[in-house]
Amino acid sequence: MNSLCVLFLLPFQLAGHATLIVACHNWWYGRLIGRRLTDAVQLIHLALLVLMPILWVPILWDQYPFVQLIGQYYSYLSLAGFGLLIFVTIFRNLRIVPSEVVCLGWEHLNPQSYLGHSGSGPGWRGRLAMIPGNDVLHPVLRRYELNLGSLDPILNGLKILHISDFHFGKTPTREWYQAVMRMCGMESPDLVLFTGDLVDGLAQHDWIPSTLGHLSASSTSVGILGNHDTWYEPKMIERRLRNIGFQMVGGSVLQIQVRGKPICVMGNELPWRGSPPVVPEEFKNQFLIALCHSPDEAIWAAQNGAQLIFSGHVHGGQIRIPLIGPVIMPSRYGRRFDSGWFRIGKSLLHVSCGLGGSQPVRWRCPPEVTMITLRGSGHDQSC
Ligand SMILES: [Fe+2]
Repeated sequence: MNSLCVLFLLPFQLAGHATLIVACHNWWYGRLIGRRLTDAVQLIHLALLVLMPILWVPILWDQYPFVQLIGQYYSYLSLAGFGLLIFVTIFRNLRIVPSEVVCLGWEHLNPQSYLGHSGSGPGWRGRLAMIPGNDVLHPVLRRYELNLGSLDPILNGLKILHISDFHFGKTPTREWYQAVMRMCGMESPDLVLFTGDLVDGLAQHDWIPSTLGHLSASSTSVGILGNHDTWYEPKMIERRLRNIGFQMVGGSVLQIQVRGKPICVMGNELPWRGSPPVVPEEFKNQFLIALCHSPDEAIWAAQNGAQLIFSGHVHGGQIRIPLIGPVIMPSRYGRRFDSGWFRIGKSLLHVSCGLGGSQPVRWRCPPEVTMITLRGSGHDQSC
């Protein structure tokens, strides 16, 4: 291969190389690995991302035959990676929203209007959150209507608030979360579903009553924990959530009463915690909702009869490149279940972008809470 050809192909090879490393990274992050191994994997992938292109330099100068051979084989592989990027990008952009889902729009919540300040918190995290273009402090409320033909008339108009991935830490502040939850409470949801990753520190356990207590006091609230919660005394987090009225369903199935109607909710915290719950026969004909922290478990939930599945964990990627979409996505399925609505068999899956994150960086992926109104066949369209 002459130098001109190598130079022409180099940008495509670099893009393909990055695609392969990121795909590998996402697959690893979707597995059950310890926190230290997680950090090691992150460093290895970062090193590979930066160092591997340097292996191509000897090809350009034609000095090291052995490295040249390795580089040449890898250049073919990276071109295949670029093809994969193009294929996945086209596939993603042609994705169709399930026909039952009606998007009613979204609105900025603007917690700053309550606080009188940004809610960014101290230190470098606070400063990073304040950089123009960073969406971390600017949550949105997304509204959807779900037209479920077979819905029990009693559940027609039921308002479900899906919240996920708070990651209580230093940024945003407790007051910011309090303001956002107060605004959610004003929506008067019938049912609040929380899909895990509440805290990023033991000190933040104290935030739970003052942020979520108001919401859980006025609505039926059900939750599970996420992988970050397992690092910070998960049993204590569960106890604190139960104390403010949450019903915790990790690894179990629970029958709750909403408008006097029984609804079953099952929780799956795999691959980090517990085991998948077994749905009793008597629950199988009831309206069944699944909470799975990772959307990877949504396929299990669909196979076990859940009509609606709610997930978080992937944060929508936090950074979404125009046309290409998110890049970092901790899932065995890569970017397949990034955010929004998906059909899996007869089930509908909603994946939340979450409200927080360990790293206070978001671009074109604002923090979100989601309000979903259920509709049955023959409902009054003027509602
Ligand atoms: Fe998370």
